[in-house]
Amino acid sequence: MIKNNIVIFASGSGTNAERIIEYFEKNERSKVVLVMCNKPNAYVVKRAKKKNVYCHVFNSESFKKNDDILSVMQKFEVKWIVLAGFLLKVPAYIINNFTNRIVNIHPSLLPNFGGKGMYGMNVHRAVINNNESKSGITIHHVSEEYDEGNVIFQAQCTVSELDTAEDLAKKVQTLEHQHYAKVIDRLIQGSEL
Ligand code: GAR
Repeated sequence: MIKNNIVIFASGSGTNAERIIEYFEKNERSKVVLVMCNKPNAYVVKRAKKKNVYCHVFNSESFKKNDDILSVMQKFEVKWIVLAGFLLKVPAYIINNFTNRIVNIHPSLLPNFGGKGMYGMNVHRAVINNNESKSGITIHHVSEEYDEGNVIFQAQCTVSELDTAEDLAKKVQTLEHQHYAKVIDRLIQGSEL
């Protein structure tokens, strides 16, 4: 019996969202039932449609004010929130309703290269410009501050002197696709013990 309905919040391409939807398709405990997106033209909207997952598109103002966000999630009996390339700050009314059940992925080894403005390629460019020898991913709980909730999982990759920001983005994306859904699954299982 499915007990853990998951919503994915995304703003962009949605490669992680698609992987997570696929991972949970045959899962007996958990399922992605809803995608929420603040950009009508984001490619994740098409990915959700292809996967037959309902996608609710909203604007940033209604998100801040909770015009209909919680009621949409209630309708789908959402228990867990997964952020996958979601670029808006999560407001307190959502955090308070989903304590310890909101997870984010960040494309660096937090606390390095986190915070406002640090998303996607901006992160990889900053890592390369800083001549770092390693980078990676951080999966963490979500608090009211950007990228500051407790760390759940990290994985590293090496950065060579010849790597461009695009090369690094590929390495990091491979790690994300390899780990994110599995870590979510383990987290949900752990919460059921
Ligand atoms: C991912 O690399 C994710 O870590 C990053 O956005 C990308 C979304 O890719 N998130 C952040 O930078 C959050 N600060 P996707 O749309 O292909 O899943």
